[in-house]
Amino acid sequence: MGGGRYLAVVGGGGVHLDSNNSSPALAEAHRAPYSGVPMTQMADVTETLRTRLFPFPRPHLLSASDLDRPDVDALLDLADLFLEFGRQSAKSLDLLRGRTLINLFFENSTRTQGSFEIAGKRLGADVVNMAVGASSVAKGETLIDTAATLVAMRPDLLVVRHWGSGAADLLARKVQCAVINAGDGQHEHPTQALLDLLTLRRAFGDDVSSLSVAICGDIQHSRVARSNVALLQAMGCEVRLVGPPTLLPSEAARWGAPVFTDMIEGISGVDVVMMLRLQRERMNGAFVPSTREYFRFWGLDGEKLAHAAPGAKVMHPGPMNRGVEIESSIADDPAVSLISDQVEAGVALRMAVLASLAERMEAGQ
Ligand code: CP
Repeated sequence: MGGGRYLAVVGGGGVHLDSNNSSPALAEAHRAPYSGVPMTQMADVTETLRTRLFPFPRPHLLSASDLDRPDVDALLDLADLFLEFGRQSAKSLDLLRGRTLINLFFENSTRTQGSFEIAGKRLGADVVNMAVGASSVAKGETLIDTAATLVAMRPDLLVVRHWGSGAADLLARKVQCAVINAGDGQHEHPTQALLDLLTLRRAFGDDVSSLSVAICGDIQHSRVARSNVALLQAMGCEVRLVGPPTLLPSEAARWGAPVFTDMIEGISGVDVVMMLRLQRERMNGAFVPSTREYFRFWGLDGEKLAHAAPGAKVMHPGPMNRGVEIESSIADDPAVSLISDQVEAGVALRMAVLASLAERMEAGQ
């Protein structure tokens, strides 16, 4: 990236960038790693964004299976633009001006809650992080009562994380706004799967159909695994499930993915090793003998990774347990680890979801 200058103009239509470079620079910048340099040479990304906006195909985003392949491609194309937009120093848009977004998190979160907040604010929404007493009341009553309260506040977008599988779906039936599932129990985490797919597209190219992906670890309790299996298979990827027998769901055989209980066998020759967190908060009793034992057999280190395909990449949705699920030297190696890229993709992907849901509202759908 050279020394091009830009002028940021904030007006009714949002931020516009006048560059002294023409649009080929956009294509050039498209795949560039983050340089930390605030000035870019991109043409008017904002106008490009506006032309790419489309109404979200459904009133809510509850499951990775909600979207068919053309919708996924369109959403990720849009997210790609938001990702480049997010690398500029001026990051404000007005696509959600006047809209209210409520983050309703009944479980802890750093990445998901933070990225939805940043995404909403960058799009001009009023963002409210609602404090929820997670352990005080019974699940069903809480949700129904909460839904009634939220309806009265008239939000436009409700991002919900809850420990109960099906909670987001239940809320969507009770409120009049768009509901986005930010993780419900061990059921689904659709925006995580979409941001993982965006990360893979940027690492390997837009056609991911030839990739083989091994999802490894605590699959039993993982909503990330369930959403990723559905989405990656829909995109044509080969998906493998790898984990100790105690952490493989009994219904895994019905997911259409080969199951491996030997880590080295399971990751042999794959393009992507997707590690999962041990979901201790969802475990009743001991599913693994000890974390030391777990790391020995199931933790990703250089020796095991050497069995994957040359140039294989490593992912982890976070938060990571270093030395349990993954060795630090792998997690922190920019040559193999996509973990930071996943976080950056999370903001962009969530901007694309929010903007297209708002576009659907503007269209009166
Ligand atoms: N990946 C993920 O959902 O992380 P958080 O729990 O920090 O949101």
